[in-house]
Amino acid sequence: MVARIVISGAGGQVGRFLAGEGARRGLEVSALTHAEWDITDPRAAERFVAESDLVVNCAAIANVDVAEADPDAAYAVNATGAENVAHACARVGASLVHISTDYVFGGDQRRPYDVGDATGPVGVYGRAKLAGEVAVLAAMPDAHVVRTSWVYTGGDGNDFVAGLRRLAATDGTAEAVDDQVGSPTYVKDLADAVFVIGEGHIREPILHVANEGACTRFELAQAVFDELGADPRRIRPISTAQAGRPAPRPVYSALSMATSVRAGLTPPRPWREALAEALAQPIPGGQLPSTP
Ligand SMILES: NC(=O)c1ccc[n+]([C@@H]2O[C@H](COP(=O)([O-])OP(=O)(O)OC[C@H]3O[C@@H](n4cnc5c(N)ncnc54)[C@H](OP(=O)(O)O)[C@@H]3O)[C@@H](O)[C@H]2O)c1
Repeated sequence: MVARIVISGAGGQVGRFLAGEGARRGLEVSALTHAEWDITDPRAAERFVAESDLVVNCAAIANVDVAEADPDAAYAVNATGAENVAHACARVGASLVHISTDYVFGGDQRRPYDVGDATGPVGVYGRAKLAGEVAVLAAMPDAHVVRTSWVYTGGDGNDFVAGLRRLAATDGTAEAVDDQVGSPTYVKDLADAVFVIGEGHIREPILHVANEGACTRFELAQAVFDELGADPRRIRPISTAQAGRPAPRPVYSALSMATSVRAGLTPPRPWREALAEALAQPIPGGQLPSTP
């Protein structure tokens, strides 16, 4: 039974949501931001995880372009930092859920990637995250690696859906790439799965957690506008080449939860259903910010 949970990277999108959700569930939550706990410091880890039943490592350089520009920093956080957390958890006997990514896959497949499919990241971010998965499981074989994809809050954050929601309230237009396919995942559904995994009854070391189905970024953007009653024609499709982002991204990275469901997780709901729920939530703080 988990009573005390420690979250690293708690200033970020996933960590912040998990912290709120943990508190809502009556857990004792220690939510530590980058400034409070830098996971690249191996001595800090033991101090912070000592009193916990469950640690969820949400700390990462999660911006793909930032990682590409600074591979040393990406590996220091996403690989060595994750390993530090795992060593500390193993030493003090805390459970660990380490969050990883669909970007460990290369994108050559045209059916959702399941746990047994070959990895093959195309950029620094994915390579560093994959190195982190390997290091975490080597340091702590009973840790859980949870790969998720295209996570959004839809609320007041900086995520793709939240940004589009702000835009929908204006008369602005946007561009979204129509040649990258993935599984949009509502952070709430990810959090629900993390709490189940954290209970420790699931044996599978690597799990996929994503909403069911796949779409392009363009289709996701149109769906957000559609749900909000805004004109989806305000979104213009562009290619990845036209977007001109520095880091390569897999052209296909949808995730299958087949193995996760066999291992005991609840089957995922369709991404569109989860999106509708996310967009029906009030934005924390109440006010819609002006144009992003
Ligand atoms: N968002 C997605 O679509 C997505 C998809 C798949 C997987 N994931 C994974 O989900 C996890 C959480 O990502 P997220 O979306 O919540 O990203 P995020 O919003 O960027 O949060 C990551 C947090 O980690 C912090 N951090 C960076 N370096 C750190 C360090 N050395 N020590 C401690 N904290 C550090 C960041 O703080 P600063 O900003 O202050 O540096 C940030 O608050 C990551 O493992 C990511 O790879 C995310």
